[in-house]
Amino acid sequence: MNAISTYIGNSDAFPILRKWNFFNHAGVSPIPRVSADAMRTWASQAESDAYIGTGWYGDIEKLRGLCASLIHAHRDEIAFIKNTSEGLSIVARGIDWQYGDVIVTTSVEYPANMYPWMEVARSSGAKVMMANEHDDSHGRRSVPIDKILEAAADPKCKMVALSHVEFASGQRHDLARIGQFCRERGILFCVDAIQSLGVLPVDVRAMNIDFLSADGHKWMLGPEGAGFFFCTRERIERTRPLMVGWMNVVDALNYGDYNYRLKSDAGRFECGTYNVPGLLGFKASLELIMAVGIEAISQRVKMLTDRLIERLVEKGYRVISPREDDAWSGIVSFISPKHESKPIQEMLRNQKQTEVAFREGRLRASPHFYNSEEQIDRLVEALPEN
Ligand SMILES: Cc1ncc(COP(=O)(O)O)c(C=O)c1O
Repeated sequence: MNAISTYIGNSDAFPILRKWNFFNHAGVSPIPRVSADAMRTWASQAESDAYIGTGWYGDIEKLRGLCASLIHAHRDEIAFIKNTSEGLSIVARGIDWQYGDVIVTTSVEYPANMYPWMEVARSSGAKVMMANEHDDSHGRRSVPIDKILEAAADPKCKMVALSHVEFASGQRHDLARIGQFCRERGILFCVDAIQSLGVLPVDVRAMNIDFLSADGHKWMLGPEGAGFFFCTRERIERTRPLMVGWMNVVDALNYGDYNYRLKSDAGRFECGTYNVPGLLGFKASLELIMAVGIEAISQRVKMLTDRLIERLVEKGYRVISPREDDAWSGIVSFISPKHESKPIQEMLRNQKQTEVAFREGRLRASPHFYNSEEQIDRLVEALPEN
């Protein structure tokens, strides 16, 4: 376990700190030095030795084990993918849908977790049902779990497909409760976990998750375009690969045999050559995250986001992200009662070296564990008065 305190405000470990007050880990994260080093090493090895004697493929298998332990899965349930969308598309394209099947989701999903199901609806006559977001009694935006379960109670419901954390509001869904409901009724449960992995704990067994997908480039601090897909063992051989190439098969290195027998583990979803530099960078980032520990990261991000919210409210901003014990996340979305959000986001970037996101008409700040309290205070100071 690496002490979390050694990383806070440490610009050697996180060079982004030299230049930016960076609060968009829910967008695209900066990579830590160790990750950049891993990819620099890859570049110099690739330049001088091609692949010979490099150990890259062994490292990629170590990464598979890390991904598995992050979500309490088995390594044979993990496939590498190029992004979250690919994993969700494997599910959408890989299982048999019947006319009238119902897929339940929310009306506030990131489109990566919407268009694949719309495509299923278009091509097979399945129906997508969306639970709507509301203002709760504190003026926070959330989709009530009862609305999700009510929709999933439809006897035709075949799958619930949900983001663990919603990209705009930051609401975290109670996956354990929804997963239990699904398991009792034989409904498949598919989770887009890109907004939670690396900052919030996920246990695919305890949460009864059948499929999970996430790229590494947000809270796991990896480079863009390298992620992983989980498929529970019982489902692997009943799920068709989205793409087929030389690697999906059992005897992949016997090139001339054309023995088309798909692997029985999640390797059946991998069609060809890996994004080697991306996965090596991802491995270094995930090793750092796991050495610090998800529990410690989660507590620290809770503390930083609480501090941010307290100061935002003092300054007259309205926070719309839910903050109950089981609903908070690393995302804080807020608006000014007086100023437009977009010009504020631009002013912060162009004049204050401070990065937040503009999403759905609101400002969205998403600090990670290595950000300092002082950076949070500077962000709020840089915002206009109301
Ligand atoms: C909930 C959610 N899913 C998926 C993505 C990105 O998808 P992909 O990894 O396919 O680019 C985002 C990015 O903002 C997101 O917020």
